[in-house]
Amino acid sequence: MTELDRIFELKKEMGDDLIILAHHYQSDDIVKAADFTGDSLKLAQYAQQNKRARYIVFCGVYFMSETADILTEDDQIILQPSIIAGCPMADMADMEQAERAWDIITAELGCDIVPITYVNSKAEVKAFCGRKGGTTVTSGNAAKVVKWGLDQNKVILFLPDQNLGRNTAYDLGIPLDNMAEYDPKTETLEYSCDKKDVKIVLWKGYCHVHHKITVKHIEAARKAHPNAKVIVHPECQFEIAQAADGKGSTEYIINQVRNGEKGSKWIIGTEHNLVKRLKDSFEDKEVYILDTSSVCTNMNRTTVQNLLETLEDIKKGNFEKRVTVDKSIAADAVKSLETMLSLV
Ligand code: 13P
Ligand code: SF4
Repeated sequence: MTELDRIFELKKEMGDDLIILAHHYQSDDIVKAADFTGDSLKLAQYAQQNKRARYIVFCGVYFMSETADILTEDDQIILQPSIIAGCPMADMADMEQAERAWDIITAELGCDIVPITYVNSKAEVKAFCGRKGGTTVTSGNAAKVVKWGLDQNKVILFLPDQNLGRNTAYDLGIPLDNMAEYDPKTETLEYSCDKKDVKIVLWKGYCHVHHKITVKHIEAARKAHPNAKVIVHPECQFEIAQAADGKGSTEYIINQVRNGEKGSKWIIGTEHNLVKRLKDSFEDKEVYILDTSSVCTNMNRTTVQNLLETLEDIKKGNFEKRVTVDKSIAADAVKSLETMLSLV
């Protein structure tokens, strides 16, 4: 019996007590084993709605499991097959830095701030946003959420991904000149307009997988596949988002290719597992990866072996791989997540 077969056997045994969730960046085998796959938004919505499963095994990275823990009932147990699978971008902001930024920006700009954190962030940063009347955001709902922030006539503090913040605010009509940048390392705020014209402050964080995609990659890919459409994840830099034909969450990327015409060609700027699966699933279309080095090491830490181990552990009552968020943090973090989920 293969490890995957044993996973299916254990799933059958545990029935409704167990749910396996997988992000779109997981490998094919993990996606096969999963009951539900999605982008961060869909996975968060799923966690909020599913009240039945006692055990939720989250194949993704740490902030996703934390979000699931915050949104589920106290007696639902979230487990992550590779407990060390984190997101380096989420680690680019913590609560103390966010509090400090709040003071510095308020003092410098003399304005009211509404904080919006990408879900790719620590639970404590989500709690900070909840306490300050802000919200969370995903790449799947960024336009709606940032518009919500702009409509409050406050300056948005967008963290930790400067690229998602910049790309989204620009699409909503905010010129680059009206965007400030905050560097948490040097605790400095930079902007070129009058301080009263700053609309959004971008935390200088980024995802190393998407941030290193360059315009040269697009030029080379367009040359190699002249009639192809280039679509990228909005964690890519502004110039890349502008040079592409479209951008959006992993769910958006899948839908674009799925709904594309027979024979259509696609060049995709995001994690290689997803691009490979699109290539294999839609044989009537041509799918290419924009940058062959787009690999998220952390997403790839989940393996069939550690997933199986996690299920065997559940049977033994061993919850070493459980992800929990401290109640005092969860109480504020849930406010910011619920605000987001009520907007979409
Ligand atoms: P999505 O929400 O678009 O799936 O993105 C999550 C992520 O980590 C992208 O790097
Ligand atoms: Fe984090 Fe980037 Fe990996 Fe997504 S792809 S989990 S943002 S490091």
